Amino acid sequence: MDEQQSLPPHVLIFPLPLQGPVNSMVKLAQLLCFSGMHITLLLTENIHNRLVRHTNISSRFDQFAGFQIKTISDGLPEDHPREGSKFLELFDSLKLKTKPLFKYMLTSGLLCSDDGKRRPVDCIIADGVLGFTCDVADEIGLPIFCVRTISPCCLWIFFCLPKLIESGEYPFKDDDLDEPIRSVPGAENFLRRRDLPGFCRSGNLTDSNIQLYKTEGQENSRAYGLILNTFEELDGPTLNQMRTICPNIYPIGPLHANLKNKLYEEKTSLGPSSNSLWAEDRSCINWLNNQPFKSVIYVSFGSIATMTNEQLMEFWYGLVNSGQRFLWVIRPDSMAGDDRKNKIPADIAEGTKERGYIVGWAPQEEVLAHPAVGGFWTHCGWNSILESVYEGKPMICWPYFMDQQVNSRFVEEVWGLGLDMKDTCDREIVEKMVKDLMVVRKEEFLERANHMSKLAKNCLIEGGSSYSNFERLVKDIKSFK
Ligand code: UDX
Repeated sequence: MDEQQSLPPHVLIFPLPLQGPVNSMVKLAQLLCFSGMHITLLLTENIHNRLVRHTNISSRFDQFAGFQIKTISDGLPEDHPREGSKFLELFDSLKLKTKPLFKYMLTSGLLCSDDGKRRPVDCIIADGVLGFTCDVADEIGLPIFCVRTISPCCLWIFFCLPKLIESGEYPFKDDDLDEPIRSVPGAENFLRRRDLPGFCRSGNLTDSNIQLYKTEGQENSRAYGLILNTFEELDGPTLNQMRTICPNIYPIGPLHANLKNKLYEEKTSLGPSSNSLWAEDRSCINWLNNQPFKSVIYVSFGSIATMTNEQLMEFWYGLVNSGQRFLWVIRPDSMAGDDRKNKIPADIAEGTKERGYIVGWAPQEEVLAHPAVGGFWTHCGWNSILESVYEGKPMICWPYFMDQQVNSRFVEEVWGLGLDMKDTCDREIVEKMVKDLMVVRKEEFLERANHMSKLAKNCLIEGGSSYSNFERLVKDIKSFK
């Protein structure tokens, strides 16, 4: 055996350049490093610059000799607001400008290891939305695994989009959003039009999202396997449906906790680190330290969702009128459209002091793990849901877009872990839901949340479902050497 062959596999990891996917895939990179793989993490220049500004990304990989970061252009000007309303332009640019660059970097040796051995890539792990990575892998004969960081319940709907269109259920024939949906196997008893991915509301077959996602089943089944951030005990029925299209699925989540366990096991000092693209305001932890057990509702709508000034006021009145304590993340770019130029109204800042605390960005995993937090009002981004499930925190769901409309239905109807507030934004409803979650139905929700939290913890220990799936993934990657 020559020296190159005796080395561990060299795996290229290419996340979709958005907070949620980057967060998950950096964690996957760390986990694979612990399994002895040599990893090249390919980040867009924009994401790399922001990660370097706000995190200790490199130091987290210091101990791994075979780790390196490489950067690639996303083709957009530096001042383009990649999150928020213009985020679809990022997808177009990646397909048009980044694809040829990606192929060039792979074939010209620019992605070989910098360790003096100039090792080429043995295998690619890319976000499944970056369909062009499957084209390039095919063209140059490299094995590829896809990762989808959104929820499996939404991904399954993407897989079913062709069927929804064929059956005539989509586009909708009228405005009744409460009509049940019949062409998503396994979800016939609870899925309504309003629970389909947000972009389905456009009712337009030429909508760029419909065009992008209706080929997901086809695209993801081209890869050797599909890696998902979930666990069998949470998503078993949906995963079984998906296996009819992608037979080789690796549910290895919750990823954030999978990594935390590994760091603990290895007694490493790297800590459960954050991959935040914003600066974290840790003062909220001190504030939480002074609040009673499970008394605070944590409010955060992730990294992309925006709201109008009117919605902000309804939320705030609802929260204050509920009489509950709250910790609220309002990102500097949280306000939508013309409201973006407005500052948070002074009466909000002043009136919050009594029972609330506002930050621009929180150390979310730590916040959700905090004993003072008793519930989470979330936009239902998939990372946020998994983080909440793991910590046993019941949820109020205010979905904004994409998978969030589906996720919120699953939270209430399938998992019984909270309340779905979709399509409403009214102070009285907010007040009632916060009281229901934190007081009136507290015990009922906590019981189910604690049960799911136990299952999430067990699946990650030796012999558990995600633990075993991760071992199988490592074994399969090694077989490509
Ligand atoms: C997006 C989509 O919105 C989501 O639906 C999809 O599933 C993944 O991509 P995002 O909106 O950012 O992600 O939501 P989410 O998936 O919840 O990810 C947000 C991440 O930022 C979480 O890991 C959360 O811990 C972190 N976060 C959020 C913070 O660290 N601090 C905060 O203040 C808010």
